[in-house]
Amino acid sequence: MGTGEGDHGEPDLWGGRFRTGLDPAVRRFTGSLSFDRRLARHDLVASMAHVRSLWEARVLEDGDARRLLEGLSGILSELEEGELEVEGPDEDVHGWIERTLTDRVGAVGGKVHTGRSRNDQTGAALRLYLRERLAGLVAGALDAAEAWTDRAEEHREDVMPGYTHLQPAQPVTLGHHLMAHARAVLADARRLRDARREAGVSPLGAAALAGSSHRLDPGRTAQLAGLEEAYDNSVLAVSDRDYVAAALFSVALLMTHLSRWATEMVLWTSPQFGFAELPDGLAQGSSLMPQKKNPEVAEVLRGKTGRVVGALAGFLTTLKGLPLAYNSDLQEDKEPLFDALDTGAGALEVTAATARGLRFHPARMRAACDRGFLAATDLADELVRRGTPFREAHRQVGRAVLAAEERGCGLADLPLDVLRECCPGAEEEMRERLDVEAVVASRDGRGDPAPARVGEQVRRAREEIAGLRRWRDELEEPPVYRAYRSGTLLEAP
Ligand code: ARG
Repeated sequence: MGTGEGDHGEPDLWGGRFRTGLDPAVRRFTGSLSFDRRLARHDLVASMAHVRSLWEARVLEDGDARRLLEGLSGILSELEEGELEVEGPDEDVHGWIERTLTDRVGAVGGKVHTGRSRNDQTGAALRLYLRERLAGLVAGALDAAEAWTDRAEEHREDVMPGYTHLQPAQPVTLGHHLMAHARAVLADARRLRDARREAGVSPLGAAALAGSSHRLDPGRTAQLAGLEEAYDNSVLAVSDRDYVAAALFSVALLMTHLSRWATEMVLWTSPQFGFAELPDGLAQGSSLMPQKKNPEVAEVLRGKTGRVVGALAGFLTTLKGLPLAYNSDLQEDKEPLFDALDTGAGALEVTAATARGLRFHPARMRAACDRGFLAATDLADELVRRGTPFREAHRQVGRAVLAAEERGCGLADLPLDVLRECCPGAEEEMRERLDVEAVVASRDGRGDPAPARVGEQVRRAREEIAGLRRWRDELEEPPVYRAYRSGTLLEAP
């Protein structure tokens, strides 16, 4: 029996104890190559770390180790150059790598699996892949945060109605509102960074579940693979998918935030609100109604959130019944994760584009502040300052709102005598305090909507964005990958 091929001519990684090959329907159903092929480069890097570590531990001799590393490097460089496709009859990418390696270097290729199982191998490849993607998502989240921050600075002074229950509540500024989105996605960026760290535990060395009788050094393997640390328990090392759940949660919450922005874009671009307009490049028309300009990008963004939340819920459901250690159910980690990562990356791109591209209509927002009695609380607060208990002031101003509604005017436009019938403590000078610009200016605490405070939020956000960008720029490639690139991978330990 040659290069990992069973008697029946199939490239199985077993064979010895089987008399027949696998039923084709079972192979189709259980195979993962069609989707785990995207882990090939990361598995090759993990394999290089494993071989290099075996070599340093003298489990592999110089000649064998060099041939394996040469073979793995050749595969990796052809993949990177686009000269090789990950395809074939193999069950998964791990089988593909061992078969491809053995085809190239001969039977010594079988030594790559010394002290290793696909159970620790698959976790290592997935963790390396996920860490790369999460770093990319952090960058995408920072771009979105920066887009909102830039627009917030631009609209620091422009007042708009703030809402609760989607009813006009109190005036804020557009800049303040946009900084709320920037803040949320900055928290997402930190959460994604933390999920990347959580994915940094190396399972290599745990093998199937119980480690290996070879003299392996999992700590060294982890270091060579560019991971943070080695596993502490070999059973958990191959059973653990908490890092997948954490990444899915981080992306699901990110999407949830972007989805709320999406709903606001749908509302704001409707003629009823008229607060904003999408540029042509970001909007779609109707195949039937010539007048339409639809915020479809926002709807799709909101719609895709459902499936990312579904990926999280589905994967937790997969996990919850599994006994330790490895079970093939765990193979179901990949498709939801890949889908969530791809969807999150695309969603961040269109979020940054819409945040930059939306044309706001501050005059419409300002006009909307005049309908809805946004300064009612501030009138009550003035009465409170002159000694009226708040609950009583609330009742008095409520009556004034009724009176203004009947006359079809704003609170500040009520004749003083009418105002006083409702609020006996009202005075002429109170009325200038009811101007929305004055109301916003009076909300002058840290994190509040006064333009100067929005300016502070902008400055703080810019500092955090710069800090997280530095973190990302300083990330290093795994040491074995750097050695492969610089041609030192085959140097004797
Ligand atoms: N294809 C599997 C996965 O994606 C890796 C193989 C795990 N080991 C096994 N004995 N089936 O998780």
